[in-house]
Amino acid sequence: MANERVPRWKRRAYNIASLRAESKRVLPRPVFDFVDGGAGDEHSLRRNVSAFDDVALYPRPIGGAEERDLSTTLFGRRLSMPLIVPPTGLAGLLWPDGEATSARAATKAGSIYCLSHGSVCSLEELAKTGVEPRWFQTYIYRDRGLTREMAERAAAAGYEALVVTVDTQLLGNRERDIRNGFIIPPRMSSREVANMATKLGWLWRMRGAIPRITFGNYRRPGDAEDLTALAERMVTLPDPSIQWRDIADLRAVWKGPLLLKGILHPADAVEAVANGVDGMFVSNHGGRQLDGAAGALDALPAVAEAVAGRAAVLIDGGIRRGTHIVKALALGADCCAIGRPQFWGLSVAGEAGVAHVFDIFRRELDLTMGLCGLPDIASIGPDVLARDGTTVERARLAAASEAVAAAAVAVAESGTAANNGGGDETEPVPETGGPAGPEPTRYGDWERKGRAIDF
Ligand SMILES: Cc1cc2nc3c(=O)[nH]c(=O)nc-3n(C[C@H](O)[C@H](O)[C@H](O)COP(=O)(O)O)c2cc1C
Repeated sequence: MANERVPRWKRRAYNIASLRAESKRVLPRPVFDFVDGGAGDEHSLRRNVSAFDDVALYPRPIGGAEERDLSTTLFGRRLSMPLIVPPTGLAGLLWPDGEATSARAATKAGSIYCLSHGSVCSLEELAKTGVEPRWFQTYIYRDRGLTREMAERAAAAGYEALVVTVDTQLLGNRERDIRNGFIIPPRMSSREVANMATKLGWLWRMRGAIPRITFGNYRRPGDAEDLTALAERMVTLPDPSIQWRDIADLRAVWKGPLLLKGILHPADAVEAVANGVDGMFVSNHGGRQLDGAAGALDALPAVAEAVAGRAAVLIDGGIRRGTHIVKALALGADCCAIGRPQFWGLSVAGEAGVAHVFDIFRRELDLTMGLCGLPDIASIGPDVLARDGTTVERARLAAASEAVAAAAVAVAESGTAANNGGGDETEPVPETGGPAGPEPTRYGDWERKGRAIDF
């Protein structure tokens, strides 16, 4: 029987939720929770998913197509569907060579892989595998020389786009990690260690890889191998006092598409466009940073409206179904991204697992489009959320964010200098470094002390 040739994990993982359950089964609890968890009470984590339930589709099945075209274009790249892999650090903790493994699966699926600053392999090592297209994610560091260096390394290694994450300048309150002792330095209880010992598949697979786990992009010649020391100094590097002029400065350095990640407020979307970015991820970092932040889908309509086609709008957070992609596109997104689903696939079956994730989304997206009478991606618009020609869902969501939309208009009308150097438009902008206040950190100043893992 044909069914017998399908591996057991695949038969069990028939959708993203069941794949998550498989991941929970195979990973040690601290590792599973590191991926699965969010900040604080995990309100924003849950809201990312539940926001999709609050939006209803109004299918118009008459006039659909025999075969649907799921492909789309992003920054000149043809994608097989509007779904990419956003930056997700420490992939190499889930599977040996986790970054290259996931990147291979994503790009074979006609997608894009964005390498995290916190990858186990370095950006140069991933480039050497020949996998593409690749994007790279970084931060604005206290040491602007390091920011520049990361951008220059990414350009030299052929990364097509640079993603600057702006919502993780301080680390969120990851309470599952604290409970599990998945912190720096690790403080796992004997119960957690015993739990690890039961995950034989993971232990066996990772036996050679565990000693090599590091943060490849931050290692320097002569550095100690000690992961704890490396992580401790890594968390201190991002600058919590970044300004819009830092984005403008980076814009001048990076020639390819520049994206910001972690935009929720339409006023920031307006500022981003004014400072020359080409795209943005509407994202609350998968609920891992500011608990209580809006769900990504809740924030999307007002951001898309503020951007008004002047930059690409991507969304991540809570995308678990093909229907979610259609809802996000109908509310103004150009493309979606999947963090945890990709990691659940990776942890269960490596490259085949991530490929399976793309297959699930492709099948579900195609079915949704077929049932909604949508022949191609361009045909997905607000009217799929409408009844009798009125955009009821959109109107309701837009009304909910009326206040923030008004703020966006106010920013647009008052120019773009409002957030530069403390809000005084006439204040001269220093040539480099942050605002007046703390001394700018010098290149190689690794000394400040941190507390936890930086994702
Ligand atoms: C384990 C893990 C590691 C992550 N690491 C990073 C990172 O290094 N940089 C970053 O910008 N976002 C990081 N993210 C956030 C993702 O890019 C993305 O915003 C989030 O996962 C989207 O939510 P989803 O998991 O519901 O799809 C990480 C997320 C997870 C789950």
